[in-house]
Amino acid sequence: MSANILALSDLKIAQTDYPIHELLQKRWSPRAYAAQAVEPEKLRSVLEAARWSASGGNLQPWAFIIATKQDQPDAFARMVSCLMEGNVPWASQAPVLGIAVAKLLRNPEHPNRHAFHDVGLALQNLTLQATALDLYVHQMGGFSHAKAREVFAIPEDHEAVTMFTLGYIGDADSLPETVRARELATRVRRPLTEFVFTDQWGETSPLVLK
Ligand SMILES: Cc1cc2nc3c(=O)[nH]c(=O)nc-3n(C[C@H](O)[C@H](O)[C@H](O)COP(=O)(O)O)c2cc1C
Repeated sequence: MSANILALSDLKIAQTDYPIHELLQKRWSPRAYAAQAVEPEKLRSVLEAARWSASGGNLQPWAFIIATKQDQPDAFARMVSCLMEGNVPWASQAPVLGIAVAKLLRNPEHPNRHAFHDVGLALQNLTLQATALDLYVHQMGGFSHAKAREVFAIPEDHEAVTMFTLGYIGDADSLPETVRARELATRVRRPLTEFVFTDQWGETSPLVLK
């Protein structure tokens, strides 16, 4: 791994107020990916991790459409065609692209209110397994779900939730100027005091007051 990439990985480690698991600290959403292909057994592992996610009623309302640049170049190009313009320059350089899809109905009469939530859980499982394998995932809301439906024949009772890149980290210097600054930026978060409440909405829990 180059010195640039090592330095960036250090910069991106979450600076937490309280201890968290190192996998969670290490995860971040890169834009620069190495050209190196991802081993199929690692792809199977990250998908298996998604499979073992929790879901409401164990309905498992997720599906993933996956394309590797190396082995499914046509599907990969069709996936790139679904992305919003701003995501194309960097996401098209990743070795793997995916679309996370939710099944919207519990049964023909009833919507599954937790479908998007459960797809998010599954994608987080996938992401953390990826992190454990030194792979990185970057989710994207910047895509056309209508185009994804059309291009990949996603059925009416399903909807694309997010797209994502997956691969090994690359050198930020390989990125177009417009996105390089974002790649090098320090990661920031709202403090716990802003969103952990007790008694009533807006009243910070003493648990997180220092
Ligand atoms: C649902 C969702 C949609 C996102 N959409 C985009 C996107 O279209 N383009 C992009 O560059 N990043 C996108 N991101 C990445 C976020 O910007 C990123 O997760 C956030 O800035 C926190 O950075 P971190 O993941 O490195 O901690 C998205 C993330 C999520 C979860």
